[in-house]
Amino acid sequence: MTEQLKIPTHVAIIMDGNGRWATSRGLSRSMGHKAGSENLEKLARYIIKQGVKVLSVYAFSTENFKRSDEEVDYLMNLFTTRFKKDAKKYNKENIKVVFSGRDYPLRADVIKTMQEITELTKNNTGGTINICLNYGGQAEITDVVLKIVKDTKSGLIEEKNINEKLINKYLYQDLPPIDFLIRTSGEKRVSNFMLWQLSYAELYFPEIHFPDFNNKAFDDALLVFNRRERRFGGVK
Ligand code: FPP
Repeated sequence: MTEQLKIPTHVAIIMDGNGRWATSRGLSRSMGHKAGSENLEKLARYIIKQGVKVLSVYAFSTENFKRSDEEVDYLMNLFTTRFKKDAKKYNKENIKVVFSGRDYPLRADVIKTMQEITELTKNNTGGTINICLNYGGQAEITDVVLKIVKDTKSGLIEEKNINEKLINKYLYQDLPPIDFLIRTSGEKRVSNFMLWQLSYAELYFPEIHFPDFNNKAFDDALLVFNRRERRFGGVK
């Protein structure tokens, strides 16, 4: 009898390599992002179908604003057009979409799109996709500290009640810890992504560029996850 695969509760993906995928084909970097977004739509639905409860993806980091205006604009337009359509498909499949990141300096139409998608999918129960947009792990922890200081000063919380569980509730989204981080394209870095949530995650760095990281590549990743022995700081 084949053994049942363990399915991680929370999977995170750093969708790296769109640019390299495009330039290796003589295309513009923007075409790589287009291909990446098409892949995300198929892959996200597949991953949730496998029983993963939460999928977090790094769509745009706070540092990505350093890229050319053309590339930033392309990504933002992709979000307000293509991703908005994808969100309707997610909604039909009972998938909830949430966002993590800072609003400033996102465009007003991007913020409005995030609000609409959040509202549309808020009651869905068949899995969650967390889109990290204008997101930075250090920025998130800074924002948590600022909110906790404010709420402590106003008497909403007491210093003695500040612990890991409370901090989790002050993050952009109150999600389970990440079990499995996949960064495509071979770079072995976490690049300021979900630093608090990654504490005990298993890390996996396939060489494949994100637009080519398809459902079969995810199946392979699941096998890798199943071969890992997780101890959470304890002994075997
Ligand atoms: C990193 O590849 C990828 C990004 C900065 C953008 C990721 C965005 C998508 C997959 C598009 C879909 C998402 C939404 C919600 C619009 P890179 O450009 O750094 O690639 P490189 O390292 O090869 O240059």
